[in-house]
Amino acid sequence: MSTDPEFDRRQRYDALMDVVRGRMTTRQFDPNYVVPKEHYELILEAARHAPSGANAQPWHYIVVTKPELKKAIADYFVDEARARAKLRMKFPTPNYRGLETAPGMIVVASDFRWTRAFPVLLDDSELDRKYRENAERILLQSVAASTMSAHLAAAALGYNVWWVTAIGQDDAQKALKPLLGVPEEISVIDIFCFGPAAKPPYKRWKKELHQIMNWDRFDMENYMSVEQIDAWIREKRSQVMYRDESKVD
Ligand SMILES: Cc1cc2nc3c(=O)[nH]c(=O)nc-3n(C[C@H](O)[C@H](O)[C@H](O)COP(=O)(O)O)c2cc1C
Repeated sequence: MSTDPEFDRRQRYDALMDVVRGRMTTRQFDPNYVVPKEHYELILEAARHAPSGANAQPWHYIVVTKPELKKAIADYFVDEARARAKLRMKFPTPNYRGLETAPGMIVVASDFRWTRAFPVLLDDSELDRKYRENAERILLQSVAASTMSAHLAAAALGYNVWWVTAIGQDDAQKALKPLLGVPEEISVIDIFCFGPAAKPPYKRWKKELHQIMNWDRFDMENYMSVEQIDAWIREKRSQVMYRDESKVD
């Protein structure tokens, strides 16, 4: 520690940014690596401190260690990817077999009954429906805040990460919940994989600061029409998902 608090604060910021910038997705891991038990605890300790609407902390984390469970989860995702391909959904789907290679796997779940803790009327009125929609957003943002803390903690421990959400639909809930003994009222939200990457990870393209930062007013330079968004999806999406930032044209 120096005697200059400004210097110390900047060092802490730089250390944080080193973790934030260095958090990188990988979709294939070194399957032989074993995550020490303590690391799961360090990672979920970070999740525990997240902010949440009404401080309701509406999250549950299920650490998956058994290879047969990882395989069953991977099987579900591979089937789901096949179903999407048949539907001609043009989303550039990764190889979900990679899920079973993840040394660390944590299933993120939430209890939507906690939306009752947020501003809602609970009288089944039309107005209540709108407040409830907003309450769901509050709940999902809360779970994302906690999940992100966990991802950053894993990155700080030197791991690569994979945030998998391809599971919103009812079918996914029906397939995954019994595997993990998740009660009816609780929903699986996403899957968090981490571990050393099988191949060198790469840094993906990120927008420039000025493209996301606005002062006092929305900067219309950063506004995109739906046609521009569709063109971006056609021309850029798969590049930004699967290429190093230096190889995006
Ligand atoms: C909310 C959210 C959902 C995601 N869902 C998936 C997913 O279902 N499958 C997948 O392979 N990656 C998924 N990802 C990972 C993103 O594709 C990845 O974060 C993005 O390409 C940027 O790469 P980076 O994490 O290396 O910065 C998701 C990430 C987030 C934050």
